[in-house]
Amino acid sequence: MKEFTSEELLNFNGKTGHPVYIAFEEKVYDVSKSALWSKGIHMNRHPSGKDLSGEISAAPHGPEVLERYLQVGILKKGPPEELRHLPAILQNLIQQFPMARRHPHPMIVHFPIAFSMGASLFILLYLLFQNPRFEIVSFYLLILGAISSPFAMATGLFTWWVNYRLKLTPFVRRKIQLSILLLILEIILIIWRSSNQEISDPTYFIVMLLLTPIVALLGYYGGQMTFPTEK
Ligand code: HEM
Ligand code: HEM
Repeated sequence: MKEFTSEELLNFNGKTGHPVYIAFEEKVYDVSKSALWSKGIHMNRHPSGKDLSGEISAAPHGPEVLERYLQVGILKKGPPEELRHLPAILQNLIQQFPMARRHPHPMIVHFPIAFSMGASLFILLYLLFQNPRFEIVSFYLLILGAISSPFAMATGLFTWWVNYRLKLTPFVRRKIQLSILLLILEIILIIWRSSNQEISDPTYFIVMLLLTPIVALLGYYGGQMTFPTEK
């Protein structure tokens, strides 16, 4: 039976007349005849020409569906081509803990998104009801937002390196600019509020409210990268 390296397998992606092959637990299958793989991509999510062993856990079916198709080869072990740009230690780490590859950023981003939006929401409540407790809650949420933002930025840079090879796409450029802006504004607001017993300057409230559209845009651009809108 033919042996494929992960580089060779990449060519069997259904494009320019190539057959559609997928690998599961070291076995390579030809799924060219399947209507569900006809574009070389399955359910708009799973590209062919790759080892998909880790991805089937999210499917509404098990690996038994692969038995409908012919096994055409064996996948040779070794780090996949798409991880070769990383240092060996990181390649091994990601192979040992596949979760480390894509999960840290989407897990962490919830914190700055929720805390920053919470800070805006409570300042809005303060402006509406003039209850000073709302203003204090907003300030504490702001501090939590500022603490969590650098972690989102660090994991963002990590996923950009691992999964996008540091290619500067328009979305990434905007994300870098916006997240630096977010952190700077958060720090300014914290210093401003800490050095004032009471705050009444409208600029403080406006900047606090601005945190919401900034994190929303950061999330939107990220979401467009992970789940591009279907055209
Ligand atoms: C979230 C991920 C996935 C979704 C939502 C999904 C969904 C589906 C559905 C609805 C079917 C038709 C069910 C049937 O014919 O019994 C199907 C078939 C199939 N899926 Fe998936 N799937 C996913 C991931 C995967 C992965 C990762 C693989 C490969 C390892 C895979 C390989 C197949 C194959 C070979 C078939 C049979 C196609 C055919 O009979 O023409 N799927 N999938
Ligand atoms: C506070 C700052 C940030 C927030 C709130 C944020 C938010 C998000 C969100 C919500 C996603 C979608 C995740 C998913 O559903 O899988 C995402 C994806 C992404 N973000 Fe960020 N992000 C931030 C900073 C950054 C930075 C600084 C970078 C650096 C370049 C970055 C790069 C990326 C990349 C490359 C993706 C796509 C990940 C993938 O396809 O696996 N992000 N971001």
